[in-house]
Order: sequence, then structure tokens, then C-alpha cells
Amino acid sequence: MRGAAKIGSTASVASDSLRGMRNPVSSFFKDGFIAGAASAALGLLLSGCNCLNPLGPPGKGPEPRPPRSQPVPKEKFAWGISTSSYQYEDPAVKPRGTGYFQTDWDILVSQHKAPEKGNAVYTWTHFEKDLAALKKIGVTHYRFSIEWARVEPRPGVYNEEAIRRYVEMARRMKAAGIEPVVCLWHFTFPSWLYDHAHPGRSNWLHPTARPRWNAYVDRIVRATAPYTRFYAPQNEPNGQITTAYIVAQWPPAMTLAFGHYRKAIDASAAMFRDAAAKIKAVKPSAKVVSVEALPWWERAPLDPGGLIYNTMIHGNIDHLDRVYDVCDIVGFNYYYSQAPGPISLLAEPYRRGPNFTMMGWRIDPNGLYKEIRRVGDRYGKPMMITENGIATRDDAKRVWYMRNHIAAIGRAIRDGYDVRGYFAWSLVDNYEWHYGYEAKFGLGTMDPKTYDRILKPSAGKFTEIIRSKPTVGSVTTVQPQDSFAAPGR
Ligand code: BGC
Repeated sequence: MRGAAKIGSTASVASDSLRGMRNPVSSFFKDGFIAGAASAALGLLLSGCNCLNPLGPPGKGPEPRPPRSQPVPKEKFAWGISTSSYQYEDPAVKPRGTGYFQTDWDILVSQHKAPEKGNAVYTWTHFEKDLAALKKIGVTHYRFSIEWARVEPRPGVYNEEAIRRYVEMARRMKAAGIEPVVCLWHFTFPSWLYDHAHPGRSNWLHPTARPRWNAYVDRIVRATAPYTRFYAPQNEPNGQITTAYIVAQWPPAMTLAFGHYRKAIDASAAMFRDAAAKIKAVKPSAKVVSVEALPWWERAPLDPGGLIYNTMIHGNIDHLDRVYDVCDIVGFNYYYSQAPGPISLLAEPYRRGPNFTMMGWRIDPNGLYKEIRRVGDRYGKPMMITENGIATRDDAKRVWYMRNHIAAIGRAIRDGYDVRGYFAWSLVDNYEWHYGYEAKFGLGTMDPKTYDRILKPSAGKFTEIIRSKPTVGSVTTVQPQDSFAAPGR
């Protein structure tokens, strides 16, 4: 199978809208000519709508700032790995059991709009396997997420045993010398926030979402605070909201619902701010980290007036502008760059070769360098790259990708930008949303019989980098690797 026979299929094309404003046009349609025509039309519509500001006015962003002229003083660099609960954990509960829970993504799966997840990589019942692998790799930080639905399977009813288990995970990481970075929400909501009769009143926009979120955050932060210094309230809210309300790929799967988009951005930003305040109240020394989806956008030739481009940029900063001031660290996920135009949006999922991933994403470390500059200039805060990784079956390509992105970070630090950490996505091949188990993002794989994590050579390369570059200053000496000779997969 080509890196992704499936990835070229309808379901996987659809999933290309996964983060940020990724492929909002092409991901909406099926393959082929009809898709091309419809995509172009929708592109124009989007462009036209932009005159009316379809995404609404951007938040009150800060004034652009000049870059710092001196590199930050040497300090420990956070070398981490990121995972998420839904993509890693087995549910380990049976229907009608007291702890039974479902998420909105499970609803999508039951509607046959996403692949089955099964038991993912058994992190709930075999967390010790993850921990052993993390220790072996030698990471200093580990970002994992809490499954809200597991902790609160019914509104106001908490699963104390599940909470204890998450706390135990954080405690064991800490004991192993690994700093836990607790993410409170990574894409999935409890199914009881899903309104089947009125999908537009689901999730962020459910009438009880904010009070229930605040109670949930309060529980988790109080419980994990003894072992946790870093909290990420939300993972890529900007990407999730785009895919949920503009391109119908994420629950509640609505199309071009600009009004809902705006309300959801406001609601999630308000909930982010609530969480940040709660975190500081419980543990003033804790650090609040944003995790936004920030692809690097370029202007495509068929984008009159840069209208699509401006819409994409707007999608990058919409949420962050509303929360950056309550963040200690502005974190963002970076995977690729793209020139979004009616044609390129459609074509990109099918691109293969040395400079593309098996999902058709354009590999562009320089885009990360430019993104760091833009974020640093705009917000003037310390930064972390909270996810970066590649879907590929060719692990040598992963090494090349990782090394060049880290080198790009080093270059930005040398130029005076304050980047404090890099998190690889991800520990092992896992459940990749619309791509199921086809997209291989792992530095390792799981042995299906023993559940052991079998590390790929890229994990060893990451270890070498971690050991030899312990400080922010030393990261600047990572050299880029210019060529990649392996067949493009
Ligand atoms: C998400 C992950 C996802 C990864 C690769 C990020 O946008 O946070 O959940 O697996 O990208 O697509």
C-alpha cells in the first residue's frame, strides 16, 4: 500500500483538515473532478466571505514587538514527548459498568464517520510500558492528557479511581525524573455534552459546558498539583473549532457555520482563562502553557487579494490572541507549511516524495523558524514547540525531519528568540483520528502481544540529541541535515 492508500481515500482526505485551518476546502469533498470544481467554488466563497470577515474580528492581539537582541541565558531545555488520552488509552470499562464513558469522538465513530479506535495502545492498563520507554529515551518532560469523560462519566459524577490513577501517573513520572505536563483537554468531550437534537449546542457551546469544565478543572488541578508544574489547559482549540464548525470533520461536524465558530472560539477562550486562573490559585508557581495549531501559511497564486491566506492567518491567532496574556509559555504545535489556494488545498493530500509526509503534508523546517519569529514578535513570551512530528513508514526520514526542525529552533534561539522546549509527537504509533492506525507518527511501536514499546532508531537519535544538548544555548549547535536520499514515503 502506498504510504497511504487509505490516506488518498475519502475518509483520509477529509481528515486533512485536522489542525489549524488545514485544507478546509478540499477536506470537505470526495476525490476527483467534482471535488476540484466544488473545491474551487468553495475557495472562492471563502475568499468572498473573508471580505465580510467570516471568522469574525480577531481578538485584541498585542502590539508586535521587536525580537530580543540577545539569546536567552543558558537554562535547562525541555526535551519532551507528547501523547493524548484518546489516542493512547484503552477504555478498560464495559457498557453499563459504573465507570463506563463515551466521548463525542466515539459518537462520530458510531456514525461511521471515523475509524474504530479499539484499545489504542493500552496506556490505561499498561502505563508502565510508556514510562519505561520514556525513561529509556531520556526525556525531561512528558505531555499527556486527561480524558474528561473518564473522570466524569456522567455530569457531576466523578470516577475517583480514575482520578487517582492519573495522579499516580504524574507521581511516577516525577519520581522517574520526568516533568509531567498535564493537558486538561485534547480534542474529546464527554458524550453528555453532545446534543443530538441540536448539534450546534454541543461541546464548547453546551449550556453546561463552562460550569462543568470549571468543576472538572478544579478537581484535576487540585489532585495533580503536588506532582505537576506545567499545565496545558487545551490542545489546539483553534484547529478543533475550525474542523468542527467550518469543514465538518470534528464533532459536531458542521459546515461553514461561522457564527458557531466565533461563539466556540469565545467559549473555549473563556474556559481557557478560567482554567489558567484556577491553576494559579491552586499552585501559584505552576506554569500555564498554550498549545495552539500553527502551520506556516504562504500565499498561493490563485488567491486573489490573499483572501484565503488572510483567513488562515486569522485562524492561527484567533484563539491565542484571547489567551496569550494568561500564559507563562506560549506553546504551539508545528508540523508543516502550506500555500492554501483552491487548487493546492485539493492537491496536497495526494502529494508524495522526499519533501512530503505520508499524509501529503509539506515538510518545511524553515516554516517553523519563521513561525517562532512571528509568535515571538507578536506575543513576546517564552515559547515551546509542544508537538512536532511526521507520519512516515521510513524512520530515517523521521530522523531527518526531527533533526532539521530542531536545527530550525536552534537558529531562532541564536537570533534571540526565547524557545524553551521541544516535544516530539509521538511516543509510539497510535490512533490518528481520521487516519486510524495508518499514519505512523511514533518513535516506537507497540508489540501487540506484550504491549512492550519497541523503540525505532529515531528514538535513539532523539536520546543522543537530548543527552548532548541539555541547555537552551546548546540547542543552537544542532546542525541541519540538508539532503534526504531515502525513497519518499
Ligand atoms: C494533534 C494530535 C495529532 C497530531 C498528528 C496534532 O494536531 O494534537 O492529536 O495526532 O497532530 O496529526
